[in-house]
Amino acid sequence: MKKLFLVFTTALVVAGNARSEVVIAGVFARQTTSLNGKWHVIVDPYDTGYFDYRRQPYDESGKVTGGFALDKPAKDKTDLVEYNFDTSPTLNVPGDWNSQDDKLFYYEGSVWYRTKFDVNKSAPDHRLFVYFGAANYEADVYLNGKKLGKHIGGFTPFAYEITKLAKEKNNSLVVRVNNNRHAEAVPTVNTDWWNYGGLTRDVLLVETPATFISNFKVQLKAGTTRTIEARVQLDGADKEQTVKINFPSLKIAAEVKADKDGVARFELTTPNLALWSPETPVLNDVKMSAGDDQLKDRVGFRSIATRGTDILLNGHKVFLRGVAIHEENPLRGGRAWSEADAKLLLGWAKELNCNFVRLAHYPHNEHMARLADEMGIMVWEETPVYWTIQWTNAETLANAKKQLNDLIARDHNRASVIVWSVANETPVGEARTKFLKTLVDEARALDGTRLVSAAMEVYADPKDPLHKIVDDPFGEFTDLCSFNEYVGWYDGLPEKIDRIHWSIKYQKPVFISEFGAGAKQGFHADATTRFSEEFQADVYRRTLPMLEKIPGFSGCTPWILCDFRSPKRLLPGIQDGYNRKGLIGQNGEKKLAFSVLQNLYDEKAKADAAK
Ligand code: GCU
Repeated sequence: MKKLFLVFTTALVVAGNARSEVVIAGVFARQTTSLNGKWHVIVDPYDTGYFDYRRQPYDESGKVTGGFALDKPAKDKTDLVEYNFDTSPTLNVPGDWNSQDDKLFYYEGSVWYRTKFDVNKSAPDHRLFVYFGAANYEADVYLNGKKLGKHIGGFTPFAYEITKLAKEKNNSLVVRVNNNRHAEAVPTVNTDWWNYGGLTRDVLLVETPATFISNFKVQLKAGTTRTIEARVQLDGADKEQTVKINFPSLKIAAEVKADKDGVARFELTTPNLALWSPETPVLNDVKMSAGDDQLKDRVGFRSIATRGTDILLNGHKVFLRGVAIHEENPLRGGRAWSEADAKLLLGWAKELNCNFVRLAHYPHNEHMARLADEMGIMVWEETPVYWTIQWTNAETLANAKKQLNDLIARDHNRASVIVWSVANETPVGEARTKFLKTLVDEARALDGTRLVSAAMEVYADPKDPLHKIVDDPFGEFTDLCSFNEYVGWYDGLPEKIDRIHWSIKYQKPVFISEFGAGAKQGFHADATTRFSEEFQADVYRRTLPMLEKIPGFSGCTPWILCDFRSPKRLLPGIQDGYNRKGLIGQNGEKKLAFSVLQNLYDEKAKADAAK
């Protein structure tokens, strides 16, 4: 319980944080002012705005002594100041800088963002916060020349209180966003996705009463089908006040006095609780109030568990008909961030007859899980512990834990989210397994109601290349035995798929977190010609029947819904900076394999429904 408390109030501190970040749940249901729009920017490849010529940071001790953070342009013609946000170009926020300006397409480094805003609070004692949906990779945030904090991690939300610092008029909000890659970072220097930089998600001003509901958790009590458990966290001076909770559609409500830590716990039972599932994605309004503060949300109730090699949704065996997704809008190019982007991507997944998606390899924007709740799509969410992370570096572990904490604090009320994944394709080794075990324990301590897993690796029996073995020691700690396999693409040609046999060490549900093949949309040839749509379709046609033979096969997320940008894919005329394993091309055109999978999933859904 102690750990849960920590997450709800202040974020774990990772190096360089001048002030503690605050978690503010349900921002989309709160009184907010959007700061989205055109921000003035300064592209600063040498970090001239951050370091003096002796390479000393201007905000060493949290006190800003110089640099762009001060936002102080030249006063007059005699004043020597070599930057000016007002006369600098602009970029859209939310948005990555790479897809907005060809000169920034490959840019990795610092970009300074600045916007101005006035404050018009609805009550003088109200508090004010600035909230960021995400900024890749690290963000130094300043208000009116004062340092608010430094957030590390490109895919999780963060917020700072500005109640005392904000003025009525003309506040200067400056953010230094840097997306340089570092060996000790999470992710590290090598990824098969584009390192989009910038303020990639919503930026909001959030106004709250002096004491407000900073986070809450509402879920089906483990082992029950009619009991709702809720936990509401207050933030503010007046913690020990009455908290009310109400589920209008369920005609149940309760009120409890919060304890000295501002925590109010509830347990409510209702005779007729309709459980959430892809077939019936029932969501219930929940309204909470404490003093002047009110917060509402829509939540579904369901249980997810494993029994032997089965995955059980609400106690019933379920097969996960999935697809993997990167957070890109292929039609616009660049990072996806909006509800419309989520509708586009999840709409295509629905069209594929999916009931599940893997959001790879990092936390996607909040709209994805919220929309998946509404659309009835189960979700796998992941922290970017990808390939070769520094397993023995304590800062790297703290960073990974923080990103996991921030993800769970944001999405723990989403019924659609059924799996927390802590890693992808990490090399077997003692330090690595210890690192990942720590993350699994962290996820379980924060939220014991969901499955925890990772995308593990497979290897071939040295004596028989057709014999695939899964015995990753990390598999002992996960709820699923999930791994990526690329027979027919990185390993042989499609015909090899039919001859593969498996040895899997664990009596757990087997989940294939990736399989697939590349195809350039519109390129047609025989099924042994790589990058032809026919080759890719053949891999899909052969793989599902092969996987069906594996005892305990419980689902898969083929790689991947759409072609996506990757700095590692450089074959001219075919890849041109894109990973071409999408079922949909970068132009939004479907490839042959799309309908192959669509039909296979349709048959599967009908067969499962008939059981
Ligand atoms: C890997 C990896 C993906 C990558 C894919 C590929 O398995 O997890 O991030 O894009 O394979 O090679 O296409």
